[in-house]
Amino acid sequence: MTPLPVTQETEQKLFFHNYARLPIAVTHGEGGWLVSDDGTRYLDMIAGIGVNALGYGDKRLVDAICSQAAKLIHASNLFMMQPQFALAEKLLDLSGLSKVFFANSGTEAIEAAIKMARKWAGQFGNPQKKEVLSLSNCFHGRTYGAMSLTAKPKYVDGFEPLLDGTGMINFNDINDLEDKVSTKTAAVFIEVVQGEGGIHRISQSFIDRLKELRDHYNFLIVADEIQAGCGRTGTFFSYTQVNAEPDLVCLAKPLGGGLPLSAVIGSEKVADVLSYGNHGTTFGGNPVACAAGIAMIDAIHHDHLIENAETIGSFIKDEMQKLAAIHPQILDIRQYGLMIGITVDKEAKYYAGKALQKHVLINATSVNVIRLLPPLTINQEEAQHCISTLDEIFTEEEAEQAC
Ligand SMILES: Cc1ncc(COP(=O)(O)O)c(C=O)c1O
Repeated sequence: MTPLPVTQETEQKLFFHNYARLPIAVTHGEGGWLVSDDGTRYLDMIAGIGVNALGYGDKRLVDAICSQAAKLIHASNLFMMQPQFALAEKLLDLSGLSKVFFANSGTEAIEAAIKMARKWAGQFGNPQKKEVLSLSNCFHGRTYGAMSLTAKPKYVDGFEPLLDGTGMINFNDINDLEDKVSTKTAAVFIEVVQGEGGIHRISQSFIDRLKELRDHYNFLIVADEIQAGCGRTGTFFSYTQVNAEPDLVCLAKPLGGGLPLSAVIGSEKVADVLSYGNHGTTFGGNPVACAAGIAMIDAIHHDHLIENAETIGSFIKDEMQKLAAIHPQILDIRQYGLMIGITVDKEAKYYAGKALQKHVLINATSVNVIRLLPPLTINQEEAQHCISTLDEIFTEEEAEQAC
């Protein structure tokens, strides 16, 4: 049978229409470059939406996956498996927390955290203590609980009713925080750096007040590190930069080195919250994904990629600031390691389209923000290539407008 052509036309026939895929079919990757079926090489400044921390084809990662796959691909959580133990130990060492639960995707980690928060809050004898709050412009995922926390019309419209007992605090608004939390609050979910929200960092004063209110009302702080974690923002966990001291931490995206894997890590306070059968997943903590996670974390440390995130991230910020001085289209630049947002004067997808034509992959978030999430392995030459391409695009646009 002749294989179907991998084109947008076939895509429309085969799939539900929930993804706006780019008009290229990719076949493989080489380091920081993604290659399409016609051999075109694209500089990848998106990295599988923040997943491919090591770029493409890292031998240590591939070897770890192959060697574990040859031994055992799946057995389920009916059994104990060494790769799960080893990865859990690493996450506990890195966080200083007490317990780990593995799932498969970011949204599943958030669902687990919502369940844990409500169950934990149930022990205080207040049947109303079930409220889970999040911050405006956040993104926590697309399953019902996570979507209810996200609550942006774009993600929610048509899917109501949402989960009861959810609510939203205005980002970095301490007055609103004080108004919204109460004895009914079970947990407040935060992203220290909002990704889908446009690359904005939570303020130190907001975190400080949140922690005081946690002590007062006795609720949990849940750090969603799904996009900002695993070294992307210049520390392994972004919450350490604001000393958030979360009770629960959700990780995903790069955690499985590109294989589906997520984790919830919990403090001593919640260590006993789950009992047998309370929660679980068939695939969660898959041994191949865990072996990949171990290789990924080892490589991040061995290759000093967290330091690289800060060095190259600062380089990009400095160079973009030079561009901002000559191109009025650039309104603002926010950089946290290699999580970078560039606010522009129109829809960012216009620039993403132009960059694609020049074989550079950038991403649009929050309407008018260009988001860069390159592999943590990116070098200065690759960063410069991205900057020069953006410079070219802005210059061409100015020339067109002058005509
Ligand atoms: C901060 C954050 N939380 C949760 C999610 C949901 O993760 P997933 O798409 O793996 O379900 C994402 C995905 O982009 C995210 O960026």
